[in-house]
Amino acid sequence: MMFKRVAVIGGSGAIASALIQQLSEDSNAKIYVFSQHDILFESKNIEVHKINYLEEKSISNSADLASEDGDLDLVIITNGILHNEKVQPEKSLKDLSISKFNEVFLVNTIIPSLIAKYFLPKLNKSSRSVMSFLSARVGSISDNRLGGWYSYRSSKAALNMIIKNLSIELARLNGEGIVVGLHPGTVESHLSSPFSSNVPKDKLFSPSFAAMKLMEVLSNLDKASTGKVYGWDGKEITP
Ligand SMILES: NC(=O)c1ccc[n+]([C@@H]2O[C@H](COP(=O)([O-])OP(=O)(O)OC[C@H]3O[C@@H](n4cnc5c(N)ncnc54)[C@H](OP(=O)(O)O)[C@@H]3O)[C@@H](O)[C@H]2O)c1
Repeated sequence: MMFKRVAVIGGSGAIASALIQQLSEDSNAKIYVFSQHDILFESKNIEVHKINYLEEKSISNSADLASEDGDLDLVIITNGILHNEKVQPEKSLKDLSISKFNEVFLVNTIIPSLIAKYFLPKLNKSSRSVMSFLSARVGSISDNRLGGWYSYRSSKAALNMIIKNLSIELARLNGEGIVVGLHPGTVESHLSSPFSSNVPKDKLFSPSFAAMKLMEVLSNLDKASTGKVYGWDGKEITP
C-alpha cells in the first residue's frame, strides 16, 4: 500500500517519532505531524504543527491543514497515557479514583475519538486509505489474565469499541477506508519505563523496531481488516 499523504497525531511520543522517522526515510510521503509540544523533525517532507486537544476548533483546523493539498492516505493516532505526575496505574480496587479515570479516559479514548471526528472525513476515497490508532493488547477482555491497570485497560477496551464503530460508519461513507487498532508490543518509552524492568530483553522493543513492524502491518491491511485490532506481528487481537 502506498501512502502519499500521512498525518501523525501525538508526534512527540517515542513510537510516533520512530514512525515519522521511518516514513520519512522509506517513502516520499508528505507527513503532517501534530503535537501539543514544540517538536522538530529535520526533513523537508515533514511539516510539524501544534495542536490543542482540548479545543475542537484546533483539532478541526489541524484536519483541514493536513488535507489542504489532498485527502490523506494514512492517519496514525498515537495519543495515550499509562501514568503521569498525577496518575499511577491501579494495582487494585483501592487505587481507583474519579480523577484518574477522567485523565486516562480523556487521553486514551475521548481525545482519539475527537481526532477521528475531524480526520476520518479527510481519508482518501479514491484509493485505499487507513486510519490507525495505537491501542494495546491489555485492552483485550479475553486476554486479561493479570487484572490491574483498571483505567488504562478499560480506556483501551473502549477505544477498541470506538474503532469498531468508526469502521461501520466509514464503510457507509468511504468504500476505500480502513480503520484499525494496533498493539506495538512493549516498547521502550516514557509510558513503559516504570514497568519495563520485568520485561525480558527480547520482549522489550526499541521504538524503531516497533515502528518497522507496525508499518509492515499497515501495508498489509485489506478491506477485511477494518474494525479490528492487530499486534505488531500482524496477528489479530481478539476483543
Ligand atoms: N510503549 C509501550 O510499551 C506501549 C504498549 C502498548 C501500547 N502503547 C500505546 O502506544 C501509544 C504511544 O505510546 P509511547 O510508548 O510512544 O508513549 P509516549 O512516548 O509517552 O507518548 C505519549 C503519546 O501520548 C500523547 N499524550 C501524552 N499526554 C497527553 C495528553 N495529556 N493529551 C493528549 N495526548 C497526550 C503524546 O502526544 P503529544 O506529542 O501531543 O504530547 C504522545 O503521542 C500510546 O497510545 C500507548 O498506549 C504503548
